[in-house]
Amino acid sequence: MELQFSRHRRLRTSANMRALVRETHLHVEDFIYPLFIIEGENIKNEVPSMPGVFQISMDLLGSEIDEIVSLGIKSVILFGVPAEKDECGTGAYHDHGIVQGATRLIKERHPELIVVADTCLCEYTSHGHCGVVEGNRVLNDESLDLLVQTAVSQAKAGADIIAPSNMMDGFVVAIRAGLDEAGFEEVPVMSYAVKYSSAFYGPFRDAADSTPQFGDRKTYQMDPANRIEAMREAESDVREGADFLIVKPGLPYLDIVRDVKNNFNLPVVIYNVSGEYAMIKGAAQNGWIDEKAVVLEMLTGMKRAGADLIITYFAKDAARWLKEQ
Ligand code: PBG
Repeated sequence: MELQFSRHRRLRTSANMRALVRETHLHVEDFIYPLFIIEGENIKNEVPSMPGVFQISMDLLGSEIDEIVSLGIKSVILFGVPAEKDECGTGAYHDHGIVQGATRLIKERHPELIVVADTCLCEYTSHGHCGVVEGNRVLNDESLDLLVQTAVSQAKAGADIIAPSNMMDGFVVAIRAGLDEAGFEEVPVMSYAVKYSSAFYGPFRDAADSTPQFGDRKTYQMDPANRIEAMREAESDVREGADFLIVKPGLPYLDIVRDVKNNFNLPVVIYNVSGEYAMIKGAAQNGWIDEKAVVLEMLTGMKRAGADLIITYFAKDAARWLKEQ
C-alpha cells in the first residue's frame, strides 16, 4: 500500500483561517436560562453547590429578567420553590402557583421572552417524588391527571412552551390532549424525552429543594447504562406529539445526543445540568481550570454532538463572553 502524507495544518495557520473552516458556532439564541423562583419577599439566596445561581423571590425577578433580556437571551425555563408542600403537589397546578405568577410577571414585562415551564411535581410534593405516591410506589396513570392540570395552568398563565420532566409513561400524549382541549393547541411540548437517573442532579435538588424523601427516581428515570432504551423513549415521545426532545444530562451523554439527532427530525435540546455546572465552577474557583475557555468548549461540544438548544446555568456568562468576542 502506498502511504500518503496529508497537511491538515494548512487550514490552521491563523485565527482567520480557522474561522473560515469552523464547523460549529455558538449563538446566544442557543441558550435557555433556568430560574428558581422562591416564595416570599426580598429573597436572593445563592445556592451553595451552584455559585452564581440564586433562588429569587418574585419581587426581585423583574431586574433579573431585564438583565437576561439585555444580554440577548431569548428564553428562560422556570422552576418553583414553594413555601409549603403536600402529598399531591397542589402548588404545581394552582392558578396562583409560583411558576404561574412568575410567568405572568415575565410576560407582562417582556412579552417577547420565551417562557418555558418545567412541568413536574417533585418541587411541590412533601415526599419529593415526581408523581403520586402510594406506599412506596410512584403511580403512573394517577400522576398524569395532575401533570396535565399543571401544564394547562402554566399555559393559562402565558407559558410559551411546556417542558414535562417527570418521566411518567404517556405524559406527552396526556399533556398534548389536555392542552388541546383547553384551547392551547399552539403551545409546544418540549419533552424531557431521554432523562437518566443521574447523580449529576444533586445541586439542582439543593436549589429546588426536591430530594426524594424515600427511595430514588430509578423506577421512572432511565438507567445510565442504556442506549437502545433512549431510542425507545424518544420514539414514543415523537409519536405522542412532542415538538422538542431533551436529552439530560449533557456531558456524559453526548453519544445519546448524537443518536437522537440522527434518528429523529425534531429540535434536540441538551440539559447541561446542575452537577456539570458545579464541577466547572468548583474547579474554576480553585484556579484549576480556565472557566471561560472550558465553558465555551463544553457548549461548543454539545452543539457539535447535535444539540440545537442548550439549557444551561452558564447562559448569562456565555452570552457575555460571546459579546466580547
Ligand atoms: C425535576 C427536574 C430535575 C432537574 C430538572 N427538572 C431534578 C430531578 O429529576 O431530580 C435537574 C436539573 C439539574 O440538575 O440541573 N424532575
